[in-house]
Amino acid sequence: MKIKTLIINGSPRKNGDTSFLIKNLVERVYGEFKIVNTYTANISPCIDCRRCREKPECVIKDEMQDVYKFLEVCDNIVIASPIYFSELTGKLLDFASRLQMYFSQKYFLHEELNLKSKKGVVLLVGGGTGSSQKAYDTASCLLKYMNTKQIYPLICSHNTDCVPVAEDKAVIEDIEKAAVFLNGSDLK
Ligand SMILES: Cc1cc2nc3c(=O)[nH]c(=O)nc-3n(C[C@H](O)[C@H](O)[C@H](O)COP(=O)(O)O)c2cc1C
Repeated sequence: MKIKTLIINGSPRKNGDTSFLIKNLVERVYGEFKIVNTYTANISPCIDCRRCREKPECVIKDEMQDVYKFLEVCDNIVIASPIYFSELTGKLLDFASRLQMYFSQKYFLHEELNLKSKKGVVLLVGGGTGSSQKAYDTASCLLKYMNTKQIYPLICSHNTDCVPVAEDKAVIEDIEKAAVFLNGSDLK
C-alpha cells in the first residue's frame, strides 16, 4: 500500500522558503501526495452556519470536499507555513476553520471521526523576529483535529531575512529525519 501524504502550504510565494522545504520533503517521502496551496485553492473559510452540529457534513461545496475525502485515507499530514505575526498565515487559518466539521462531529454529535490515524510534521519559516512556538502550537492543535496521533518536533528555519533557507543546513538535516519518520519509523 502506498503511503499517502497531505501537504498544506500556507505561503503565498510560489518559489519561496516554505516551497523550498516542501520540495525537499517531497523528494524524500515515498508514495502519493496531495498538496493544498491555501492561497490559490478554491477553499472558503467556515461561515459558522452550524449545520455540522446536526449532521457530520460541510455545506460549502468547494475543494475542501476533496480534502475531507483524502483525510479519511491519508497516513501523513504536513503543515508548512511562513510565520506571520508569530502565527500561521491567515490563509492557512481560513483553511483550518473548515476543520470545525470534525470538532462538531466529536463534541456536539459525539461521533467517532472516520479518519485514519496519522503522523504529522510542521514546517515553519520566519524572517527572524519573535517566537515560533505559537504557530507550532496552533499547527499541532490542527493536526490533532485531523486525527494525528504522532507529531514530529518542530522543524523551523527562523532567520530567512539573513540566511536563505537553501543555505540552512540544519533545517535540511531535520527534513531528512522527518522524512524517515513519515516513511514509517515510529517517533522515538
Ligand atoms: C505579513 C508578514 C508578517 C510576518 N511576520 C513575521 C513574524 O512574526 N516573525 C518572523 O520571524 N517573520 C515574519 N515574517 C517574515 C516571513 O515569515 C519570512 O519572510 C518567510 O521566510 C517567508 O516565507 P515564504 O517565502 O515561504 O512565504 C512576516 C512576513 C510577512 C509578509
